[in-house]
Amino acid sequence: MEIKISPSMLACDFANIQKELEKCEKGKADLIHLDVMDGHFVPNISFGAPVIAAMKKVCTVPFDVHLMMTNPLDYIQDFADAGADMITFHIECDSDTQQTIDKIVSLGVKAGLAVKPKTDIEAVYPYLDKLSMVLVMTVEPGFGGQSFMADMMPKVEKLRKKCPDLDIQVDGGINPQTVQTAGKAGANVIVAGSAVFKSDDPAATIKTLKENAVK
Ligand code: DX5
Ligand code: ZN
Repeated sequence: MEIKISPSMLACDFANIQKELEKCEKGKADLIHLDVMDGHFVPNISFGAPVIAAMKKVCTVPFDVHLMMTNPLDYIQDFADAGADMITFHIECDSDTQQTIDKIVSLGVKAGLAVKPKTDIEAVYPYLDKLSMVLVMTVEPGFGGQSFMADMMPKVEKLRKKCPDLDIQVDGGINPQTVQTAGKAGANVIVAGSAVFKSDDPAATIKTLKENAVK
């Protein structure tokens, strides 16, 4: 499987977003991970479609939008218009899962479905045919900078066995060490916030994460 690195802008310097995006381009990031938090599905509030649209104007790397929202279906059009190349939402949200996937796909955007740590991976099985990616959260969603939950790896392994060609994303607590565990389990789309943006050389860290994912 191709390894794709998706730096999470949640950990970047918001006073210099354009420069931070340039670091990702320079580091050959495969995707840009954008964490949308609504203060309801998760306790935090981050940013929404207008901010993503502004970032899109200064970045050519595809946008991987992670919606931590109670009612994502109501906002899919906005995020598609903002330039999302992929939209991932949570199976635990209130919107109808199939309807939300169908809406995303109908707008020509790739659909991803995320599971929180306490949700069984089997929950995504009924939806796999239209999904481009499944996100296995490796922390409780809502905050950057938490510790990687290695006990989520059996979920990744199980899904990888079932779907050899599916993009499987991991998100939360990924660094040059934990990425090895995630890669061995079968994850190939790697989100990293703090590890990339709190490092002295984000571009070098992106490269290291990519190499270590297959170690
Ligand atoms: C957590 C977000 C993550 C977060 C990861 O709710 O979904 O994308 O930014 O941050 P790190 O890599 O710092 O754990
Ligand atoms: Zn995320």
